[in-house]
Amino acid sequence: MLKKLVAGNWKLNGSLAANEALLSALAAVPGVDVAVCVPFPYLAQVGEGLRGIELGAQNVSEYGAGAYTGEVSAAMLVEFACRYVIVGHSERRALFAENDAAIGRKAAAAIKAGLVPIVCVGETLAEREAGQAMEVVGRQLAAVLDVVGAAKMGQMVLAYEPVWAIGAGRSANAAQVGEVHSGIRAWLRAQGVAADDVRILYGGSVKPDNAVELFAVADVDGGLIGGASLVADDFMTICRAAVVK
Ligand code: 13P
Repeated sequence: MLKKLVAGNWKLNGSLAANEALLSALAAVPGVDVAVCVPFPYLAQVGEGLRGIELGAQNVSEYGAGAYTGEVSAAMLVEFACRYVIVGHSERRALFAENDAAIGRKAAAAIKAGLVPIVCVGETLAEREAGQAMEVVGRQLAAVLDVVGAAKMGQMVLAYEPVWAIGAGRSANAAQVGEVHSGIRAWLRAQGVAADDVRILYGGSVKPDNAVELFAVADVDGGLIGGASLVADDFMTICRAAVVK
């Protein structure tokens, strides 16, 4: 079984003072990899304040350098000691018009610079109700595979985040999560990817009271945590729930 990864996604939250308070209450958890993905301006502060926890960002440019106002390159993130970067979060897909192909190019740019992209996939409620969950996830993955190639797919982390479970207060249930996670693993294998080495995180209303159950589901290799990652006690409890016994 893969060592689990629990990554906090702070989204558009934080301040110098609030981050300091949160950082002082975070600590490494033996037996689980822990990361926090923070807004760009806080990378330096959080990088200095973390002990045994890895740093990540929430977005990266597909471009390396040049006339791309407002963009942040993968090499810049490496300079700030980032190990991870979230790519293709559903909020970026829905609110900032990121498409499957651009997300593939961002993942490739991250890998090229030595970062581990956490590539997010997941269906909307309408797509789930139409029975298209795995079809949508497969399409999103195929776009990434097209750019990155099967040999390098193993250098990323995947996160299944059903859009309808994000910030909803109610996660997908264990059966729904298990079905898509094993579907993703099988899909990867069918494409010639060394699928057993790819960590597949679940994200969407993971809380202290459901983390143990969700992390026990086959093919769930950790979690991508939104709201609960801003509450130190909750985040630490979720991290402890991911220790592989
Ligand atoms: P919540 O945990 O707040 O539902 O957010 C999940 C998420 O979007 C993590 O990337």
